[in-house]
Amino acid sequence: MKKTVRLVTIVGARPQFVKAAVVSRAIKNFNQQEYECRLNEVLIHTGQHYDFNMSQAFFNQLDIPAPKYHLSVRSGPHGKQTAKMLTRIEGVLAKERPELVIVYGDTNSTLAGALGAAKMKIPIAHVEAGLRSYNRHMPEEINRILTDRISSLLFCPTETSILNLKTEGIIRGVHRVGDVMLDAFLAYRRVALKTSGVLRALNLEHLSYCLATVHRQENADDPVRLRSIFSSFSELASEHCPFIVPLHPRTRKSLRDRKLSIPINRHVRLIQPLSYLDVIALESHAKTILTDSGGVQREAYFARVPCITLRNETEWPETVESGWNIIAGPKTEDIVRAFGKLNRTDLPEPPPYFGNGQASERIVEILAGLNR
Ligand code: UD1
Repeated sequence: MKKTVRLVTIVGARPQFVKAAVVSRAIKNFNQQEYECRLNEVLIHTGQHYDFNMSQAFFNQLDIPAPKYHLSVRSGPHGKQTAKMLTRIEGVLAKERPELVIVYGDTNSTLAGALGAAKMKIPIAHVEAGLRSYNRHMPEEINRILTDRISSLLFCPTETSILNLKTEGIIRGVHRVGDVMLDAFLAYRRVALKTSGVLRALNLEHLSYCLATVHRQENADDPVRLRSIFSSFSELASEHCPFIVPLHPRTRKSLRDRKLSIPINRHVRLIQPLSYLDVIALESHAKTILTDSGGVQREAYFARVPCITLRNETEWPETVESGWNIIAGPKTEDIVRAFGKLNRTDLPEPPPYFGNGQASERIVEILAGLNR
């Protein structure tokens, strides 16, 4: 009889659904092969993201197994949100008693999952380990540092992430597997380009628009930064081409706040959050992408679309070294200047910094104990 390895996966926020989708799929494929062990995965959804477009839509579209546990934590101040997750996760882990807990990325769900497991002496596997912005004002940076510190298996997407861990003295259990977001991008891009009707629905053509996303707390919750970012969008959109901006609920809320009076002209089109396939399709045809998201920076790189990062640093310096990404920060004039500098025809072939699209297969082999 095959030996079974019991895993619990903890997710809660939009980008984690995409990452977990490809790993879950690799687990399914692994179990269909003639290995001596099989992996049994149980999914916990913390409920950090709960709007249909931010959560269930991803489960439906990416065929992610339904969570066995939904913790319905929803929004709240960071401490309270993380504490609620931790309390509920502890209860589930006590019941499930897995051999390993898998967490993804750097959200409050990641930290709560890792802490819950550590308190119960269950080893942790961290997918997307070793990333650093070296900005400790970001909640994500704290979540990453703490999660890496207590993980037994650290799945790193890039050489830089390995070096970051080494600098902190973390060398055991570290594996460079590549980026699971690349796996997802390669797996779903063809379907997205074939089936997504988003360009038609928005009446757009190849290279006729820019795509922009803003959701980071440091931008969305700071009126000065938000105003300055949206001023650059308005300026660039009236001069060049329409800007399409799918709005994260956090940003929508800030923009609705009349006191802030953010100037947005008619060339900047604010739309609802999009499904994964629609985002991939919109990214692939965009002239330029402007974003404060780590995921979107990499997707721009994978799609070979020049990118401007609306932050002062990035966890993905490779995208900048290659010339495909410029760190512009939030100031209008810096964003406009960066936009003028990026010319897609001058850019070199992007080096394969993020692996070969088989990170999830590598991860699953290691989880099964084949290559530890
Ligand atoms: C979280 C992650 C961030 C990640 C992002 C992806 C943390 C600290 N941050 O940020 O790293 O890049 O997810 O999207 O974990 N809201 C809704 N509906 C939802 C979800 C959120 O209305 O389905 C609103 C709520 O008002 C909430 C706010 O958005 O207060 C922020 O949500 P939260 O999940 O706390 O953080 P994100 O900004 O989404």
